[in-house]
Amino acid sequence: TANKPLSGKTAIVTAGPTIEHIDPVRYITNHSSGKMGIAIANALADAGAAVKLVLGPTNQSTTHPGVTTFAVQTAQEMFDQVTSLYPQANLVVAAAAVADYRPANIADKKIKKGQAQLHIDLEKTPDILRYLGEHKAHQLLIGFSLETDNEKEYALKKLKDKNLDMIVMNSLADAGAGFNYDTNKVTLFSKNGDGRSLPLKSKLEVARDIVSAIIDLQHA
Ligand code: C5P
Repeated sequence: TANKPLSGKTAIVTAGPTIEHIDPVRYITNHSSGKMGIAIANALADAGAAVKLVLGPTNQSTTHPGVTTFAVQTAQEMFDQVTSLYPQANLVVAAAAVADYRPANIADKKIKKGQAQLHIDLEKTPDILRYLGEHKAHQLLIGFSLETDNEKEYALKKLKDKNLDMIVMNSLADAGAGFNYDTNKVTLFSKNGDGRSLPLKSKLEVARDIVSAIIDLQHA
């Protein structure tokens, strides 16, 4: 139908940061608020999709009746939750700021502050979106890209390397864009390479534009 173009579709959205434990009381994380991903989850649900929101630790949440939230903490938990939902999904929007590295060993007791310097060995976390791209059946995959330099080049490289259908490029250089702001300024690149720069808007409006672009992709 015209105002519920995604009815009958299932969408997975990842959002928020992940936390990676160091010991029982400490962890590594990042500045992601989850706001952009939650706005996208709500906009997809407004368009009629059944949305599975896989959400890292954040104080943000949604009460949208079309969105079911799966709370996770670590990249591994997010990977496990997303991959178990993936076969049933028609599209995935990966808006989470997944930690790229985690402590190679989690101390089972609190680390004492005796030594002057402490070294923590880090290992790579699974790249969830790359895995989804490698195991794509019928799903549309939409990723995010946030870089401080050579933004466009890296965004297009991710689009190709991760086998995505669209990538949303944000710039930390733009005032009012990125972490924790309620506004964002993005450029959308689709598989055929052409980019569409949107003006600075509220994350809600950006989310609606991203969802319109997803609906266009479905018909492309
Ligand atoms: O390679 P990079 O981390 O910059 O790519 C960003 C995109 O990949 C985002 O859509 C992010 O949600 C996703 N990603 C992921 N799992 C990771 C790292 C990034 O799904 N471990």
